[in-house]
Amino acid sequence: MPEFILVNPQIAPYVAHIQLNRPKELNALNLELMLEIKEVLIQLDADENVRAIVLSGNERAFAAGADIKQMAGRTAVDMLKIDQFTTWDSIRKTKKPLIAAVSGFALGGGCELMMICDMVIASETAQFGQPEISIGVMPGAGGTQRLTRAVGKVKAMEMVLTGKFINAEEALKYGLVNKVVPIEHYLNEAVNLASVIAEKSPIAVQMAKESVLKAFEMPLQEALFFERKNFYMLFATEDQKEGMAAFVEKRKAVFKGQ
Ligand code: CAA
Repeated sequence: MPEFILVNPQIAPYVAHIQLNRPKELNALNLELMLEIKEVLIQLDADENVRAIVLSGNERAFAAGADIKQMAGRTAVDMLKIDQFTTWDSIRKTKKPLIAAVSGFALGGGCELMMICDMVIASETAQFGQPEISIGVMPGAGGTQRLTRAVGKVKAMEMVLTGKFINAEEALKYGLVNKVVPIEHYLNEAVNLASVIAEKSPIAVQMAKESVLKAFEMPLQEALFFERKNFYMLFATEDQKEGMAAFVEKRKAVFKGQ
């Protein structure tokens, strides 16, 4: 049983929910918690009854970053040996869509974990930041890269070099989150978004997610070629036959993930 997270494999049909659960520490991401997320995501990725996954914290904090108390005494050699971000690489490889439901603090590693997710629903109270500079370090899990791709150079520089937080409205303006809702709705809104995706063909969803991510990893020509191959490959699925037949017959498609 995980100690630092709560897992509901079926918060809605085909939608799983992982909740970070270190409330006293504002969900600070210690090594153990990250390993638990990694293991659970591997299980949920393999579970045919799960088609989308919501990741949340609680109302006060999504996560206030990597666990500073756990890291404080480490040397560079310790850090290299522990190499904690390989766990994060595994999380990034999750094939199913990950939707972050963010309320309160999403800071440092918390903001970085959120940016590994594919979409973000934020509550009006959410605050985002990369405050590592204020504790003598810098972002180490994508904060200088994914944040810059999301919000552009000057805003990323401001956040990374000053450590200042931005609020939900600003995050929306800069494209860091999909939607901002009142605090009482942020989790439901994320589950609803996941449910819409869960009604689609899960194979098409996975391939589409993979293709969108290539936009950040490959030169355009290769990425377009990758996208085209995925598109053609989907014609090997029953879901493609069902989806197109349903359109022609003017009925709702029922996708089986075959
Ligand atoms: N690590 C460990 N403990 C943390 C923590 C963190 N990142 N963030 C908060 N906590 C703990 C606090 O130490 C405190 O514990 P105690 O009650 O035992 O003292 C508890 O959570 C509540 O926090 P505060 O009392 O500080 O709450 P606040 O409302 O006054 O302030 C806050 C909230 C502004 C988020 C403040 O806690 C804070 O600045 N946290 C650290 C944020 C940060 O620097 N994150 C980056 C970490 S490094 C990183 O993430 C590297 C990377 O790239 C992966």
